[in-house]
Amino acid sequence: MSSIFEIQRLAKLNWKSSEQASKYLFSDISAEISESDRIALIGASGQGKSTLLRIMALLDAPDEGDMLVMGTSFKNMDSRLWRMKIGYMAQQAVMLPGSVEDNLRTVSKLHDRPYDLKLVQRLMEQLGLEQLDLSKKAADCSGGEKQRISLIRSLLLRPNVLLLDEITASLDIDSTQRVEDLLEQWHKEEGTSMIWVTHDLKQASRISTTTWFMGNGKLEQHVSESFFAKSAEDLAKRFIRPLEGASFI
Ligand SMILES: Nc1ncnc2c1ncn2[C@@H]1O[C@H](COP(=O)(O)OP(=O)(O)OP(=O)(O)O)[C@@H](O)[C@H]1O
Ligand SMILES: [Mg+2]
Repeated sequence: MSSIFEIQRLAKLNWKSSEQASKYLFSDISAEISESDRIALIGASGQGKSTLLRIMALLDAPDEGDMLVMGTSFKNMDSRLWRMKIGYMAQQAVMLPGSVEDNLRTVSKLHDRPYDLKLVQRLMEQLGLEQLDLSKKAADCSGGEKQRISLIRSLLLRPNVLLLDEITASLDIDSTQRVEDLLEQWHKEEGTSMIWVTHDLKQASRISTTTWFMGNGKLEQHVSESFFAKSAEDLAKRFIRPLEGASFI
């Protein structure tokens, strides 16, 4: 399988300047994402998961290292082209001004993609949004509705890689299940690679084949099947609760 996204010795400096703080938020992170990879990104709060995703989406800059999409460094690729290949969904969904439909249309227009109303309707239905009026002001939608609209907006661009930051955190169980099902189907049909940040270890094991663990400024990579074979308690103790200078495994 070919590599779509390559991360080479990536580092982000810590903006805290106190003596106790490490110089880096994270450093020396190298990883490869192949076509159709499904990766769960886990780790305690504040370890830099969102920062890493934002850097990968070119919304923040790395202090060291390089990132390549299909062999081309971000330094040599137009950021608009990069963002067409790498879709990003923020932890807090950001709506553009105007209606729900404006939100969906604007992004397609910006990226010169035709607006596919049939696909929008199918995705809305699959996500349980069939009752939502497309002319409703996006700002008036609930947090969970915004999350799902933002997901549809990302999918319409058919990116090669989807970066998903806790996208089901404000959803109920039924809607969470719908999002997981839809993304599984999308992955099968489109071959999209995904990196999904979650604090829910059961969800992480359901949606991934590879698990990235961020802790103490480093990234560890595990095969999900063997990683999640540990007991839930053991996993939570070692991988989710704040680390106290502990070695990981
Ligand atoms: N250069 C930096 N860029 C971003 N965050 C930094 C930087 N230096 C220090 N920080 C701190 O590191 C933490 C990074 O937060 P981030 O949102 O990436 O973590 P997270 O792993 O996504 O946490 P959560 O699970 O709570 O969403 C924040 O506390 C932030 O203040
Ligand atoms: Mg985060």
